[in-house]
Amino acid sequence: EKGGFKHFMAKEIAEQPVVLADALTHYLPEGTINLPETLDFRGLDRLTLVACGTAFYACSVAKYWFESLAGLPCEIDVASEFRYREPPLPHNSFAIFVSQSGETADTLAALRYCTDKVAKIVSVVNVATSSIARESDVALPILAGIEVGVASTKAFTCQLLTLAVMALKAGRDRGHLSDEDFAAHVAALKTLPGLMNAALSGAPRIAKLAEQIAEAQDILFLGRGVMYPLALEGALKLKEISYIHAEGYASGELKHGPIALIDRTVPVIVLAPHDRLFDKTVSNMQEVMARHGKVLLISDARGIAAAGEGAWESLTMPEVAEPFAPILYALPAQLLAYHTAIAKGTDVDQPRNLAKSVTVE
Ligand code: F6R
Repeated sequence: EKGGFKHFMAKEIAEQPVVLADALTHYLPEGTINLPETLDFRGLDRLTLVACGTAFYACSVAKYWFESLAGLPCEIDVASEFRYREPPLPHNSFAIFVSQSGETADTLAALRYCTDKVAKIVSVVNVATSSIARESDVALPILAGIEVGVASTKAFTCQLLTLAVMALKAGRDRGHLSDEDFAAHVAALKTLPGLMNAALSGAPRIAKLAEQIAEAQDILFLGRGVMYPLALEGALKLKEISYIHAEGYASGELKHGPIALIDRTVPVIVLAPHDRLFDKTVSNMQEVMARHGKVLLISDARGIAAAGEGAWESLTMPEVAEPFAPILYALPAQLLAYHTAIAKGTDVDQPRNLAKSVTVE
């Protein structure tokens, strides 16, 4: 059932171009968006997105999308905090729950807290028959197929795609996106499977880098804007399966504390496509390099050229439309975690202390 791969995780990473293409065919058939008409974002004051772990990082990326593409303010929270906080919720809002399994206890409890308090409970799930799907007004499938590896990979990118399509619908419903921009974003999403295939071809290079990353005790991941949640996800993936201590930070936060950790033993993985904020990230990178930190820059050819000398290593990614870069850059982050774990000889599919579905709090 591993289809010739050594681990489910490797299989599930490799499947992403195919499952994402399936999800695109489902949600963005020629010329339209296939989402329920009742999912109408007009007149809403707010969205609340709640989840755990990797699914929470998908919500964190989606916040940038809903705010920038649809002008819709978003609150995000981890379910274990949200459920006991008794947060006030405007009735004129949707609460969105993201869960691969659809059975996560904290996420389900957070959903139940919102029932009757908001206009609609929406879930984004992989398991269509799950409790979270059943208790929602609208349950949107991410269409990733069964995910077996404990570390979530293809579910994350499919969650992101589903949320991106929702943000585009919200942008159109609310008159925030011009027809032209809308069409450009749809076209950009449709290029992702091809770009993912190109990104996967970097795996042998990543495996080589991972041999050195595996020596580290501490690793930092940096990102800005939509790439900040991806830095958090990259760090989570790495710590889950390789047991190396890793932390993700917003690049601009570096000088507010974590820079104290930097020395020549600390790899700093910078997730930075050549976007609007790139120059700022380069100056953060230079601060790391001045303290002899080992920078691994993951960017596109333009970014790598613009960053100049001084990085320990760089990894060239295809160019991708700015808002959707996290969907593509998830792949090198996953591959880096996977190959680092392989280099350390840890159990990739069954990491210690972790379960695939966390049905107790
Ligand atoms: C990370 C991971 C976990 C889950 C989290 C939520 O690789 O798998 O962080 O993302 O436990 O699980 P679901 O999505 O099933 O609610």
